[in-house]
Amino acid sequence: MSITKTQTHTPIKTASPDGTPTHVAVIMDGNGRWAAARGLPRLAGHREGASAVRRTVEAAMHSHVSWLTLYAFSSENWRRPQDEVSDLTGLLRSYLRSEIKELNDLGVRIRIIGERERFDAGIRKGLEDAERATAGNTLLNLNVALSYGARAEILHAARRLAAASQAGQINSAEIDETALAAELFTAGMPDPDLVIRTSGEQRLSNFLLWQSAYAELMFLDVLWPDFNAAHFAAALAAYAGRERRFGARPG
Ligand code: FPP
Repeated sequence: MSITKTQTHTPIKTASPDGTPTHVAVIMDGNGRWAAARGLPRLAGHREGASAVRRTVEAAMHSHVSWLTLYAFSSENWRRPQDEVSDLTGLLRSYLRSEIKELNDLGVRIRIIGERERFDAGIRKGLEDAERATAGNTLLNLNVALSYGARAEILHAARRLAAASQAGQINSAEIDETALAAELFTAGMPDPDLVIRTSGEQRLSNFLLWQSAYAELMFLDVLWPDFNAAHFAAALAAYAGRERRFGARPG
């Protein structure tokens, strides 16, 4: 098999020269365990998790990280018990009401990645309003992954390219990494430099699988509701000490 015609997508080195990552992505895990350790309902953990979101946005801005992607609700989370799904969507609804204005005032641009059509009309409108209201902001690009799953995202991209090929709009030999990346929710965005997962679990759980091909991974032993600016700064310091080679030999 010859793949000579296929362009190889060279990952763009996005981290800034001082070692600050351009794009940090976070798998926010451990809300349930945080609540259980206190004898509280899981909703209490998710509420505290929402406060940690705000702290993390501020920490990212303080550190001059320009892209932050947060995994707030996975495609698989729909399979949780109905009352927990309602708690999470309810929290999202109230978050949209209470936080967007402040995020806008801070200069945060909000974008949603994921299958937003799975949410009800009220939430979909809230998400669209948040994106529209903040579209002119440039201080921090905040992606919120909602009903997001990386395999579904890649499948969707593959289907769109297959349809374009069938319609004669693209030659199959022209389907390269750049063409596929352009069909992802993250089209036009830099790949994550650093992916953090809290709670001690060491998995990617279907998060940004394509985009994280060369990301540094960090698994922290803190539960998400306890995550704070000091944890964020420590992760950035550890990242700055890592050598990223993007598959090349040390030179
Ligand atoms: C993982 O903890 C966290 C989630 C499934 C949801 C993340 C939600 C938030 C951080 C708060 C809501 C944020 C917004 C923007 C509305 P888990 O429940 O899997 O914890 P466990 O593994 O300890 O059970």
